[in-house]
Amino acid sequence: SELHKIIQGIPKAELHLHIEGSFEPELMFKIAERNTIALAYDSIESLKKAYQFNNLQEFLDIYYAGAQVLIHEEDFFDLTWAYLTKVHSQNVVHVEVFFDPQTHTDRGIAFEVVFKGIHKALEKAKKELNISYKLIMSYLRHLSEEAAFKTLEASLPFKHLIDGVGLDSSEMGNPPSKFINVFKASAEHGYNLVAHAGEEGPVEYIWEALDVLKVIRIDHGNRCLDDEALVQRLVEEKIALTLCPTSNVALKVIQKMEEHPVAKMLKKGIIATIHSDDPAYFGGYMNENYFETAKALNLNKEQLMQLAINAFEASWLNTNTKQQRI
Ligand code: HPA
Ligand code: ZN
Repeated sequence: SELHKIIQGIPKAELHLHIEGSFEPELMFKIAERNTIALAYDSIESLKKAYQFNNLQEFLDIYYAGAQVLIHEEDFFDLTWAYLTKVHSQNVVHVEVFFDPQTHTDRGIAFEVVFKGIHKALEKAKKELNISYKLIMSYLRHLSEEAAFKTLEASLPFKHLIDGVGLDSSEMGNPPSKFINVFKASAEHGYNLVAHAGEEGPVEYIWEALDVLKVIRIDHGNRCLDDEALVQRLVEEKIALTLCPTSNVALKVIQKMEEHPVAKMLKKGIIATIHSDDPAYFGGYMNENYFETAKALNLNKEQLMQLAINAFEASWLNTNTKQQRI
């Protein structure tokens, strides 16, 4: 259709993508077999049937289970390369990729193994697919700040190759302020700072991410429209939101796509951007996210272009000088 052509034609940047969330069932079964690990499901079809979520936690339980079959550097390479070739076909030219070190180090996989597999695929994509990239390690917020500090320590041999830190996993009950010290230490090591906030959690978590953690970008931030002062702050300080529409529907953050706040956010002057979050689990990569949102909210070509431009503006492409607000 005309809309598909428009979306395909726009060069795009993806700023909110968990690499473990791009693990397609076909590849998961292949790697499980290679590593002689039994999955809890006997077929790709029965695995896919389990992808029905009522909230973030129901998704996270399945997402962490899927990641258990990743053992060797090659596994992390294959996972990342599959994602990059897929988004290359969708005219994505820049990616800022999250990985969750603790999901792997807690199973005895070395940080180095995880990092090297992901990094090699990103370098290959840079050379062969002309995709530029940044890499962001996320601390799991359901774990302690002490555990996040151990992850920060483990990352230091590679810190020249890692651009930032994020905060993900179970939001409710795990406010940003729990991680004040490790975010401060991460900034001192030169990492850019982002955090998931206001996906399921309240606007207070968005304020905390800004004021306590001092992040330069908010992942999700759906709930910001509840608070006009917060909206003003985001606009004035040009703090972008990395929104994930199909994720929001899949995790019942909204009941249907027509309720998605992105059009209202654009009207208010917020630097709103669109991404896929965990495409293998939520049924949509970048183009599908643009398409579903455009269809449900009647976005025109100018609005779609604005979303894409916003993502480049919010990216870390132009930051030889680090952007952190310390
Ligand atoms: N929210 C929080 N943690 C996550 C997500 C998300 O959308 N995806 C992967 N980890
Ligand atoms: Zn996310």
